[in-house]
Amino acid sequence: MPCIAVITDDPGWHGARLLRAFAARGCCGRYVSLTACCLNLDTGGVPVGVPGFSGELPDGVFVRGVPGGTLDEVIFHLDILHALRLAGVPVYNDARAIERTVDKGMTSFLLRQAGIPTPATWVCTQREQAFAIATRELHAGHRLVSKPLFGSQGAGLQCYAKPDDLMMLEPCNGVYYLQHFIDCGDASHDFRVFVINGQAVAAMRRSGLTWLNNVAQGAQCETVRLDKFLCGLAESAVRALDMHYAGVDIIRHAEGRYSVIEVNSVPAWKGLQSVCEVDVAELLAEDFLGLCQAPARLEVAG
Ligand SMILES: Nc1ncnc2c1ncn2[C@@H]1O[C@H](COP(=O)(O)OP(=O)(O)O)[C@@H](O)[C@H]1O
Ligand SMILES: [Mg+2]
Repeated sequence: MPCIAVITDDPGWHGARLLRAFAARGCCGRYVSLTACCLNLDTGGVPVGVPGFSGELPDGVFVRGVPGGTLDEVIFHLDILHALRLAGVPVYNDARAIERTVDKGMTSFLLRQAGIPTPATWVCTQREQAFAIATRELHAGHRLVSKPLFGSQGAGLQCYAKPDDLMMLEPCNGVYYLQHFIDCGDASHDFRVFVINGQAVAAMRRSGLTWLNNVAQGAQCETVRLDKFLCGLAESAVRALDMHYAGVDIIRHAEGRYSVIEVNSVPAWKGLQSVCEVDVAELLAEDFLGLCQAPARLEVAG
């Protein structure tokens, strides 16, 4: 029976849904912490040690979480994912996609390069530079947000409406990420579109208690129909970032146009599942296991 490693330190609801979907397709899944994996670079055996796989490589790797840590630890954990892919194991999303999107600076850069609408953004490390940019933009009548480069779920974001607010401006781990604040008009909301294998499969509107519309910050989810334009934008963003699947955050400007604000390579879908008709775990399992059986995989293995 094919056996899949689900990379996570906190399996929870998502892990259980995935394992159930794998089992329904004749595959077993095992939870694996990246902290327990190792590189074995002697001459015999497989080069990546994955606990629970008896010295074999998994048939596929589904990444549900990458643990934090020191810079060395984080790089090493990504090394494991890179090495598994290079050893011929399908990794979903792979380390390259995770690197591109876990880092908001690189995501913004790649979206801009691909011509995907995204808010004006500046990333720098020098305080004088950050203050000069922020002062200029606030004087020009824009509001700004600052975000941690590796933040998630709405943690650590700040909003600045006037020059006096810049007293609060601090770098996050040494880096300033500044972005035009997008006024969405009436009550605060944004959209999350879930894209699998290039296609938007579900979408929701998230209405925040504050301007932060993350489910983790208490936002209410409601279903939205798969609007052609919203879906097309999300699909273009995922294509630009070259990912197997993603959760795309999109904000609608008060005047009606849309901007992509974030693309998540390890998105949660519990909130989305509560309001959408499709079974997201089933769709993910179907797409991922198809990839594990694709001819390219057999060629690499051979
Ligand atoms: N430029 C912006 N203008 C207005 N609201 C924003 C902007 N950027 C982010 N937000 C709000 O903050 C939330 C979190 O931002 P996001 O960039 O998605 O980071 P996180 O990784 O924390 O989810 C978004 O869902 C949105 O509601
Ligand atoms: Mg987000």
